[in-house]
Amino acid sequence: MSLCSGTVYIFNYQSQSTIKSFEVSDLPVRLAMWECRRRSPAQNLPEPHPRLTTIEALVCRKLGDPTQPISDGDAEKAIIVEKNHPILELGSPTSVRVKVKATSLNYTNYLQILGKYQEKLPLPFIPGSDYFGTVDAVRLAVSKFKFDDLVCSVAALGSFTQFIVADQEELFGVPEMCDLVAAGALPFAFGTSHVALVHRANLSSSQVLLVLGTAGGVGLAAIQIGKVVGAIVIAVVRGAEKVKYLKQLGVDHVVDLSSENVILSVKDFLKSRKLKGVDVLYDPIGGKLTKEAMKVMSWGANILVIGFASGEVQTSCCYALSPLCVRRRRVGIKDLMREKAL
Ligand SMILES: NC(=O)c1ccc[n+]([C@@H]2O[C@H](COP(=O)([O-])OP(=O)(O)OC[C@H]3O[C@@H](n4cnc5c(N)ncnc54)[C@H](OP(=O)(O)O)[C@@H]3O)[C@@H](O)[C@H]2O)c1
Repeated sequence: MSLCSGTVYIFNYQSQSTIKSFEVSDLPVRLAMWECRRRSPAQNLPEPHPRLTTIEALVCRKLGDPTQPISDGDAEKAIIVEKNHPILELGSPTSVRVKVKATSLNYTNYLQILGKYQEKLPLPFIPGSDYFGTVDAVRLAVSKFKFDDLVCSVAALGSFTQFIVADQEELFGVPEMCDLVAAGALPFAFGTSHVALVHRANLSSSQVLLVLGTAGGVGLAAIQIGKVVGAIVIAVVRGAEKVKYLKQLGVDHVVDLSSENVILSVKDFLKSRKLKGVDVLYDPIGGKLTKEAMKVMSWGANILVIGFASGEVQTSCCYALSPLCVRRRRVGIKDLMREKAL
């Protein structure tokens, strides 16, 4: 038996044909699945069969500006909506197919379509990284999830579609009381910041953390993780409204780039707290701001190179300009997946 969109299919796997199909409401579908699992030992569960063979997906066919209106098939556009994209088959015995309910739009997705991301992707590809959804189908050896479970995850690519396939180890169960849309935007930003701050920099409670670009996805996650770790957190942001918001989150010091000199403001704060300098710099911005931040770092500080939202990719000469001994650590999406950060 397999199911899709509220339809139960009685399927003959030998002849690969449907014996019978009928529409049922959600509850009987769940009961039918449960009954099927209860009766069969896990290893004898039938292979799920994707009755849905095509899905809708946002596809990047050529690199270009994704801010242009999305097209339904115009070959000139960077991204198109494919109405009949083949559905991904379940692969390994522990693979799970997820029906995507919410997916987030990250700066990285924009850079990937533009062709400016550090890893060049073979065309065509479906963009999209983190998502929330419900389990739609599982393979034989899946033990952690069952049909209709709420899950979220982050993928290197592929969430801007109706269904995505992941290994059970890559998925996280989402409690029902969670804000489900937020769950679809949490893994990438928080995962990146967690790998960077906790795995790479070993941020500790006595240290000073300076976060650039704190109004953005990864920056906002970084200051929250910094506060949970117990570090003294300094945030750099543009605009009074954002300053107010960050103060509400308990950030120890906020620098408003639109009205303050970053070096003077940070130095004054450090002096007022009798602190020597910044121990960890979290940098998703690059360019001039990075060069400025180098002037308030401690000896042996960690610099976390997260991204270049300013558009200026930092070269190593910027770090060489610093009179300090610093450790520069790059963080990428592959680290996030490899190190099981969440
Ligand atoms: N390494 C990884 O695994 C990883 C993961 C995720 C993201 N990233 C990278 O991190 C960067 C940020 O991503 P995001 O998702 O946080 O982007 P985002 O949500 O768009 O935020 C970008 C932030 O950068 C600020 N900004 C842009 N240009 C600036 C400048 N010249 N000076 C000061 N601030 C500036 C913006 O400030 P305003 O709010 O004032 O406009 C905004 O708050 C991107 O380069 C992305 O590729 C890397």
